Amino acid sequence: MTTPTRLDIAMPDDWHVHLRHGEMLEKVLPYTAAHFGRAIVMPNLQPPVVRTADAQAYREAILAALPTNQCFQPLMTLYMTETTEAADVKAGFESGLVTAVKLYPAGATTNSAAGVKDLEKIYPVLEVMQAIGMPLLVHGEVVDPAVDIFDREAVFIETKLIPLRKQFPNLKLVFEHLTTKEGVDYVLSCDSHTAASLTPHHLVINRNAMLVGGIKPHYYCLPVAKRESHRLALRAAATSGDRRFFLGTDSAPHPIHAKETACGCAGIFNVANALAITAQVFEQEQALDQFESFVSLNGAAFYGLPVNKERLVLERQSEPQALPANLKLSQAEVQAFDPMMDVYWQVV
Ligand code: DOR
Ligand code: ZN
Repeated sequence: MTTPTRLDIAMPDDWHVHLRHGEMLEKVLPYTAAHFGRAIVMPNLQPPVVRTADAQAYREAILAALPTNQCFQPLMTLYMTETTEAADVKAGFESGLVTAVKLYPAGATTNSAAGVKDLEKIYPVLEVMQAIGMPLLVHGEVVDPAVDIFDREAVFIETKLIPLRKQFPNLKLVFEHLTTKEGVDYVLSCDSHTAASLTPHHLVINRNAMLVGGIKPHYYCLPVAKRESHRLALRAAATSGDRRFFLGTDSAPHPIHAKETACGCAGIFNVANALAITAQVFEQEQALDQFESFVSLNGAAFYGLPVNKERLVLERQSEPQALPANLKLSQAEVQAFDPMMDVYWQVV
């Protein structure tokens, strides 16, 4: 079988992105809008997007920052807190303004201080979400300081997710940015109420990329990249065609000075080359026939949304493509993700 050199697919969606606000929003949004029809917009702003009214204001800011010729649709999320009101969540979902609620365990990552400490406190909200078919998006890591950072996802599954699932068997749940074989196996053990997003960077880098030969802050993200066997499990899941796995870039821009410092922020800015890198991974795995499912079909099916009518074309070039340029802000730059491999694919 010859490798295709052109992929003409339904416009992809990004099922997990950080668009930020202010100047950063203005500068990163054109990248997302150029390659994706829709995106699930993370609510971990400061202050977080907690209520439906906050999501409405944030959505308006996004639409105002959108280049005029783009028909990109932001899908809004709420940031779950222990005082989130079920009635507000329900009203947001039923009005079509809010698509999902994001659960950050308090302290798990950037701007998660207002997250949830005691899962039982949110049971009334989850009860309503289960009843109305509203997805819960989960940052699946425990924050117990006694748990090694490389084990936090696996321990979360055993101690938090499995018990939560028992309480809410029909809750639609996305395990965000899976990074472990345990995560893949967990999703595979579930029925179609559970799905997972996978990032391009976790398909490409393992923890050695971040730590061998000098510490590389631009490969630091959360959940942190794991050992090679996990990366291989993620690639197998992404390319399997299983409808429970779909692309979420987790593109999370931070200025270079906030990453190259004594206590650097977690987050990788990958949106400019996310699709090209993902296509390269699928080519390496001889699974280009599953590429469209992963980037354009599976997520829409899980969220119960139509596939985008617009199309997107990627072409395989004869030479490896240059890295995207860094993003320039007025006072800083954001480093574009370097996948440390040749990428021949390009969105045309
Ligand atoms: O690496 C990450 N960056 N992981 C997260 O969970 C949050 C994100 C951010 O907002 O910077
Ligand atoms: Zn994220």
